Amino acid sequence: MTVQATALIEQLTALRERALQELAGVHDAAALEQWRVEYLGRRGRLAELMRSLGQLLPEERPQAGRVANEVKEALEQAHAAKTRELERRALQEALERERIDVTLPGRRPPLGQVHPVTRTLREIVQAFQLMGFQVVEGPEVEWDYYNFEALNIPPDHPARDMWDTFYITDPHDRAAHGPRGPMLLRTHTSPMQIRVMEQTRPPVRVIVPGRVYRYEATDATHESEFYQVEGLAVDRHITMADLKGVLTEFARLLFGAERRVRFYCSYFPFVEPGVEVAIDCYQCRGAGCRLCSHTGWLEILGAGMVHPNVLAAVNYDPQEYTGFAFGMGVERIAMLKYGVDDIRLFYANDLRFLRQFR
Ligand code: DAH
Repeated sequence: MTVQATALIEQLTALRERALQELAGVHDAAALEQWRVEYLGRRGRLAELMRSLGQLLPEERPQAGRVANEVKEALEQAHAAKTRELERRALQEALERERIDVTLPGRRPPLGQVHPVTRTLREIVQAFQLMGFQVVEGPEVEWDYYNFEALNIPPDHPARDMWDTFYITDPHDRAAHGPRGPMLLRTHTSPMQIRVMEQTRPPVRVIVPGRVYRYEATDATHESEFYQVEGLAVDRHITMADLKGVLTEFARLLFGAERRVRFYCSYFPFVEPGVEVAIDCYQCRGAGCRLCSHTGWLEILGAGMVHPNVLAAVNYDPQEYTGFAFGMGVERIAMLKYGVDDIRLFYANDLRFLRQFR
C-alpha cells in the first residue's frame, strides 16, 4: 500500500477518535449542531478527507473507502444517539420544572349563604304553615282603596300623608285617580287581607310575606323599604283566645319554648280591639337590659280582632263571621333574634356583617 493510502486511513481513524472525544463534551443542541457541521457537514472534515480518496490509486480506493464509510457511519450513529440523549434530558428538565403537586388542597370556592332577613322570613312563614296558614303574595304597587280605605283608614288619616306614602299618581289630582283611588306603593301588607277576602269565602287562614314602602327618613330602626308578614284568620266563632293561642305558639317557635308572651291594648284602624304582642326579653329573662331598653319586654308585632267595617267592606257578615289579624316587620324580628341594633346593616351589603350569619 502506498504511503498516501496508509496516511489517509490513519487520518480517518484519528478523525473518528477526535470527533467522538469531542462529542462526549457536547451538552446542548447548539453545540451538537456545531459539531455536526464541523465533522459531518458538506464542507466538514470527513467530507474533506473523502474528497482526497480520489487522489489514491484505483486499486487502493476500495479499502480506504470502506474505512471512510465506517467512520461516517460511526459518527452518524454517535450523532443520533447524542440527539436522543439531549432530547431525553430536555424532557426530563421540563417535567422537573413544570411539576405540579397534586396533593395540595384545592382552593375552596366562596360559598354564598341565605341573607339573615330571608332566613328570618322563612322561619316566620314556616311557623305559621305548621299551624295551617296558607302563603299568599300580593302586589307592591297598590290602590289607595286596598291600602287604606277598605282597611277602615279614613281619608284624613295621617298615614295617607305624602310624608308616609310613596304615591305613583298624584293623590291631590282626582283626574289621575284610578277606579280605586290614587296608585301607591303599599305601606304595609294589610291590603292583602282585603284582596284575599274579596276572592274567597270563610274559612280564611293566610299569611302574606312581602315588601313594603314608607316615605320616611332612614335611621337605626327605620328603612324606606322593608319586609312584613301579615296574617289573617276569619271563620265562625273565632275569638281573642284563638289570636292569643296562635301568636303565643308563634313567639315560642321563633324565640324559644320558655318565652312568656304579653298582650296589651293598642290601636290599629282595621282591628277592634287592637293589641301589641311582646315577649319577655330572652337575653335578661325580664330583668332589664340594653336589648329590651330595660323594660324586660320586647315588642314583636301588632294584632287584633278584624274590625266589623273591614268585614263589611268585603261583604262578610260581621254578625256571622269574626277573625283576627296580625302584622310584623321581618327586619325587626331578625334584629331581636340576632341582637342587631341598626336595621341599615341588613342592606349595607357589607360582607363582614353578612358572614356572621352562617
Ligand atoms: N299594618 C300594620 C303596620 O304596618 C301592622 C298590623 C297591625 C297588621 C295590626 C295587622 C294588625 O294585621 O292586626 O304597622
